[in-house]
Amino acid sequence: PPSSGGGGSGLIAKDAVGNDIVAADWLKTHPPGDRTLSQGLKGDPTYLVIENDGTLATYGINAVCTHLGCVVPWNPAENRFICPCHGSQYNNQGKVVRGPAPLSLALAHVDLDDGKVLLSP
Ligand code: FES
Repeated sequence: PPSSGGGGSGLIAKDAVGNDIVAADWLKTHPPGDRTLSQGLKGDPTYLVIENDGTLATYGINAVCTHLGCVVPWNPAENRFICPCHGSQYNNQGKVVRGPAPLSLALAHVDLDDGKVLLSP
């Protein structure tokens, strides 16, 4: 599970309506395997990942496609992120598995800050 504390360069992740995300509440409403967008660093859409054991992953996945910048949706049926723009695919940890994307999705560090989800580069 994520460690407490965190550095000074992070930002608290926000939910879809702009509220700070409290990890314990998030875990109650998001099942194992879930990937749901939050608003992360610099406002970038960032997936928070629930591991199969139900814990919050220590990394978040930046949803901005490394090809030309479309936001890449999570496809649970395929267990992949599939870009609607030109078909790039990324596995469930954001690693590129089909081009034209040149690189994997960027990852953010996930820590807890007073129970809230802190994202940092
Ligand atoms: Fe995602 Fe082109 S922007 S495949």
